Amino acid sequence: MAEKIDPWEQGAVKDYRRLMKEFGIEPFSSVLPKVPQPSLYMRRGVIFGQRDFGKIAERMKNRQPFVMLTGLMPSGKFHLGHKMVADEFIYLQERGAKVYICVADIEAYNMRDKGLKELRETAIEEYLLNYIALGLKPKNCDFYFQSERSKDAEKSNAYYRMVGIISRRVTMNEMKAIYGELTPGKMISVFTQVADILHPQLAQFEGKMPTVVPVGVDQDPHIKLARDIAAKLNKTGDFKFEAPSATYHEFMKGLKGGKMSSSDPLSYIALTDDPKTVKAKIMKYAFSGGKDSIEEHRKHGGDTKVDVSYQYLYSQFEEDDKKMAKIKADYESGRMLSGELKQLLCEKLEKFLTEHQEKREKARDQVHKFIGRD
Ligand code: TRP
Repeated sequence: MAEKIDPWEQGAVKDYRRLMKEFGIEPFSSVLPKVPQPSLYMRRGVIFGQRDFGKIAERMKNRQPFVMLTGLMPSGKFHLGHKMVADEFIYLQERGAKVYICVADIEAYNMRDKGLKELRETAIEEYLLNYIALGLKPKNCDFYFQSERSKDAEKSNAYYRMVGIISRRVTMNEMKAIYGELTPGKMISVFTQVADILHPQLAQFEGKMPTVVPVGVDQDPHIKLARDIAAKLNKTGDFKFEAPSATYHEFMKGLKGGKMSSSDPLSYIALTDDPKTVKAKIMKYAFSGGKDSIEEHRKHGGDTKVDVSYQYLYSQFEEDDKKMAKIKADYESGRMLSGELKQLLCEKLEKFLTEHQEKREKARDQVHKFIGRD
């Protein structure tokens, strides 16, 4: 059966390769050689796909400005999956991106049945504070809420005008073909998200400029639609958009396998979790590719393809390629035991979490530099 993708359901992906083929997403490896100083996620294939990223790589190489836009639905705890996305856009900010971060509070209000006030608090306490602690800078950063685009009326009008005029460039049948069963809340979310993606290129913001949107594949329907609508609006002569580019990252695996999700506390490691609790969580729940007995393990070795601790080290916590290769060799040959592998991850995590949580507290007096500026 074809992979099914729904932007509002938390499905896991079985086969990324196959999904790319079906969706027409290009492998990231085809642009990797063009990226100056690729990020860890790019090098290790956590970012596996892209559309039109060549344009962005070119800009990075020539030190020309470009836009990075991402959106978040403020829900629950900020965990390692969110950290991955944040690391990536902070990497892009450090390499010349003008960073736009959209708090999709209108989408969350309509789709998740929460109040706007609560959503705003979560966005700041869980997301913004962690972003700042991870290294997000106020310069070249536009952090906004869908419910409150800007105090500058020209900017605000341009954004909401965009939401309003998009609907004429897509038919009901196209919408149904892309999204299946529709609700008023979904329709509003779609048009708002297309406006999110395109509006940085309006004259009131940056003007026409290559824009990259890092997303999980579940958001690809929105990316394709935004690219389509950009082309149609260009034809009217009233707009000039670069087709938005995108990168696609794998979903972070949950501790027990499956997907890391804020709705299941045993699946995630939150950046505010107490390091001691995290250690216990990993020892107890992290899915192991080790064998049942030590003898078996020494003889046959562990399976890195399913071992969650190995994968966390590989995708986020051991940047040194040589060390990583040794861990793989040791574990697969049985020289390293599952408990020892978990121990390695716990040490990395304990250090990271302790330092991060200090930075997060200090980040509080930076919040005003990101919110309510214009
Ligand atoms: N729909 C996205 C989510 O579910 C949030 C979002 C809103 C978004 N606007 C966006 C993501 C623009 C990327 C670009 O998380």
